[in-house]
Amino acid sequence: MRFGSLTLESNLFLSPLAGYTNLPFRLVVREMGGVGLCTTDLVNARSLLERNPKALKLIETSPADRPLAVQLFGAVPEQMRDAALQLEALGVASVDINMGCPVRKVCRVGGGSAMMTELDKTSRLVKAMVDAVNIPVTAKMRLGWDDDNLTAPDLARVLEAVGVAAIFVHGRTRAQGFGGTVNLAGIRAVAQAVASIPVIGNGDVTTPQAARKMLAETGCAGVSVGRGAFYDPWIFQHTRHYLETGALLPEPDFEQRVQVMRRHLDLMVAVFGEEHGCRMFRKVAPWYAKRFGPSHEFNRRVVALSRRAEFEEILGHYRRWRAQFLDENGDLKPRFQPQPLVASFMRSPGATERNQIPVPRGPVEVW
Ligand SMILES: Cc1cc2nc3c(=O)[nH]c(=O)nc-3n(C[C@H](O)[C@H](O)[C@H](O)COP(=O)(O)O)c2cc1C
Repeated sequence: MRFGSLTLESNLFLSPLAGYTNLPFRLVVREMGGVGLCTTDLVNARSLLERNPKALKLIETSPADRPLAVQLFGAVPEQMRDAALQLEALGVASVDINMGCPVRKVCRVGGGSAMMTELDKTSRLVKAMVDAVNIPVTAKMRLGWDDDNLTAPDLARVLEAVGVAAIFVHGRTRAQGFGGTVNLAGIRAVAQAVASIPVIGNGDVTTPQAARKMLAETGCAGVSVGRGAFYDPWIFQHTRHYLETGALLPEPDFEQRVQVMRRHLDLMVAVFGEEHGCRMFRKVAPWYAKRFGPSHEFNRRVVALSRRAEFEEILGHYRRWRAQFLDENGDLKPRFQPQPLVASFMRSPGATERNQIPVPRGPVEVW
């Protein structure tokens, strides 16, 4: 897939998830295969320029973590431009800009003219970045403020005109938060608004079938997966295979999941140190456990993890406890098997949101 001056191995992307898409997780996803480009958590441009240690940690990378996009956040044009230059000098493959979405209702001061001012301002900021660096500059947005203000197509058109290499669009409005349905028609409108740059659809993709439906119904050039990758790090490999062959690969079994979870923990410890890595892993492990079948005995203990060796004890205890749910072949008895998550746009009419992918706790509502 062409992406500005880059050629990517696939049209599947890892979305930024602040607090989650750190180096260990990106490496896990890459080791599974199938992903074309991974993006970091959102990074404040000013903090990066000030060499704030937390910001530098967010962009920590390694040779196996390529190609890498860093997502920048900021409203001061000079800072955004200089941060992009700094990232280019560090060898980052592309820079993504967090646009949230244009807040028409909030910035309107009569007749919607403020929105145009805002668009002008945004496009100047983006143009200065595009002109300064040779690597692709991309933008990530929602569909707009609410259903009456679907401004993403206009914004995408303006950004393409100033040289943005691709647009990522989460198919929800800001008013929706993470509820309701991902609007495929809304993503299609963005894909149709631009002349030639790729538009990458995003939102609720948890299965290869959902990715294919998003591609087919929106005409988008690629799919970006956030929470679905946390729920299932195999999703890129499986989706790529499905898109290429039409066949579904078998689901990883419990032992394979444990192996990858352990690898994830080891990488967390290597990158963040044992104590901090283990503490951070407390919120990661329960995502793996969502596919283990009954898992509260695992979650109850893993949320107190503080030493690498404790993890093996927790796992040993959990294996013994979990045995009660297995049949004579060592497989989960059918009634204990986890329900597959269903993308909002794959649900049959009238179905509830019960099987929707969860949103982790934290200040996530604006993304
Ligand atoms: C915990 C969490 C953190 C997020 N952090 C960011 C972020 O830093 N930048 C961003 O543009 N979007 C962020 N998002 C939005 C995701 O990138 C993505 O657009 C959204 O979750 C929908 O995709 P999904 O259903 O595949 O997760 C975040 C979402 C969640 C749940």
